[in-house]
Amino acid sequence: MAVIEPLAAPKLLDEVIRQRRSTRHFSNRRVDQGLVEKIFQTAQWSPSVGNMQPWRSFVVSGASCDRVRQALLTAANNTGQFPPSKPALQKPGSQYVERDRALKKQLFSTVAAGKTSQQSQDILMDHNFQLYGAPHCAFVFLEQGFNERTSIDLGMYAQNLMLQMEASGIASCVQAEVCVYADLIKQQLNINEPLTLMFAISFGYQQSSDINQLKRSRAPLFETTTFYN
Ligand SMILES: Cc1cc2nc3c(=O)[nH]c(=O)nc-3n(C[C@H](O)[C@H](O)[C@H](O)COP(=O)(O)O)c2cc1C
Repeated sequence: MAVIEPLAAPKLLDEVIRQRRSTRHFSNRRVDQGLVEKIFQTAQWSPSVGNMQPWRSFVVSGASCDRVRQALLTAANNTGQFPPSKPALQKPGSQYVERDRALKKQLFSTVAAGKTSQQSQDILMDHNFQLYGAPHCAFVFLEQGFNERTSIDLGMYAQNLMLQMEASGIASCVQAEVCVYADLIKQQLNINEPLTLMFAISFGYQQSSDINQLKRSRAPLFETTTFYN
């Protein structure tokens, strides 16, 4: 029977997973293009149903990133002209709603202290549409013909991208909020194929800032995981 040899540095992997966090303020310093390509090349080794690899990434950097950022901001401030598409309604249980509320409270306190809830939400959205100032953003689409179940593959792919970024000192933030302007993003990227935008990953080097220092938490293990021995 083939034996999987443990890697020399399992502790390092544990550290990279725990250390990765959503960064919401980036410096404008660009990541070397060779490193960016290497990260996306390695993420190709993510698992997928039937090895179909249904992810399609469009990575914008520098001026092309600025163009998309500007288009998103313009749309967000002219909702009459660019109506955002509404995401499907979700009905999570109360403990999930509570976790989301706790996160929003922290985020609002850093970008919109003293504002009303609606104002805070709008300000945070603006930061989202500014891609948090990142010099790079990957827009990750699902190929035509796949359903929600296959979209899990894109989650695995995204995590592999972000862990490699973390291990290389590059910060990142997944952003599903930008999907309300999926059509506009496709137009900006000259995409005419029937691809579905699932999320964006803004990335670059972290800017020191309160919003990047938020205390993070996770549910206790036994709240989410059951072991049968
Ligand atoms: C699919 C997905 C979509 C997300 N969308 C957004 C987003 O639009 N804007 C944002 O600021 N953070 C977004 N996040 C980041 C989450 O808020 C973050 O992962 C969560 O609060 C846990 O914090 P951590 O990533 O720092 O561990 C998203 C995360 C995931 C996995």
